[in-house]
Amino acid sequence: MNIKIETERLILRPFEMADDKDLYEMDSNPKVHIYLGNNPVKSIEQVRDSIKKVIQQYSDFGVGRLAIIKKDTGEHVGWAGLKYEQVLRNEFDYYDLGYRLKERFWGHGYATEAAIASRDYGFKDLKLKEIGAAADVDHIASNTILKKIGMQPSGTFTFEGELCNWYTLKNPHL
Ligand SMILES: CC(C)(COP(=O)(O)OP(=O)(O)OC[C@H]1O[C@@H](n2cnc3c(N)ncnc32)[C@H](O)[C@@H]1OP(=O)(O)O)[C@@H](O)C(=O)NCCC(=O)NCCS
Repeated sequence: MNIKIETERLILRPFEMADDKDLYEMDSNPKVHIYLGNNPVKSIEQVRDSIKKVIQQYSDFGVGRLAIIKKDTGEHVGWAGLKYEQVLRNEFDYYDLGYRLKERFWGHGYATEAAIASRDYGFKDLKLKEIGAAADVDHIASNTILKKIGMQPSGTFTFEGELCNWYTLKNPHL
């Protein structure tokens, strides 16, 4: 997949195998996984497997999460973007908007900036009919971001025993 999304402070580009150390820094941190099932990665091999899966999703579905790079320093911040989600909701597949950052980059508005760019890419470039998103009901930061970018609260559901808020947004350009 050959895409590059640019925002004021960030670049979103496809995952590469060389992202392994940065993603390991992020995903081995228990704090990052508090609302993600409390199961941080234990080895860099796990991260490499995940990178391969994301790269496979690019070719299977033409979409997948993207690495976030800070423009001014070139630092790897984490990931954001769309994913063709087949597991989270039992009843249906959908295009999911998500984000995950290294802890040291939290609190600067980067997730919001990347989420807006991902939403716009999905609607304007991919011309998706609808985007969905989910966040644990107790996850204040994520629920704040989803509401801020215009995602509409659309009920709740339970995933692996955790109550989650469900959000949807229809493409306003179609
Ligand atoms: C969730 C996550 C991406 C947020 O990243 P971030 O860059 O800090 O987010 P932003 O700065 O763009 O925005 C967070 C918003 O939540 C608000 N917020 C965060 N914690 C809050 C709290 N405890 N109480 C009230 N508001 C809070 C912030 O003030 C901010 O809103 P504002 O811009 O209106 O001030 C980051 O914490 C993360 O990667 N967590 C681990 C992975 C994860 O949980 N991903 C989401 C799964 S649904």
